[in-house]
Amino acid sequence: MPEGTEVDLNAGSQIYAQNCSVCHGANGQGTPAMGAPKLTSAAGWIYGSTLPQLQQTIRHGRNGKMPAQEPYLGNDKVHLLAAYVYSLSHKPEQVANR
Ligand code: HEC
Repeated sequence: MPEGTEVDLNAGSQIYAQNCSVCHGANGQGTPAMGAPKLTSAAGWIYGSTLPQLQQTIRHGRNGKMPAQEPYLGNDKVHLLAAYVYSLSHKPEQVANR
């Protein structure tokens, strides 16, 4: 992980707790009853788990169900969130093996 990443992930996790956990669960485990997918799997993503795909999902929302965040949070927080969500499914050993 590059220098400074840990700080960003802490910031991202706080924004996540405030804005995302209500639907996706405190640890990204998802809430099937609400149709909110879990965000921790290595595979099985609807819209993809690369950093650009996550940014796109978070920025603009998806399918009328995942709400667009950029209007509320702005670009910087979208980036912090995408990095945090990315880290949920890309543990260091998985990143190393990609
Ligand atoms: C109102 C509930 C709700 C909130 C709040 C919410 N989401 Fe979602 N999210 C959803 C739903 C529902 C979907 C699935 C959309 C679909 O099925 O097309 C989704 C999809 C996603 C996906 C795509 C998953 C995949 O498999 O490709 C990501 C990433 C995501 N959300 C991240 C976030 C983040 C980060 C936040 C906080 C900024 C957030 N969501 C807030 C309901 C929510």
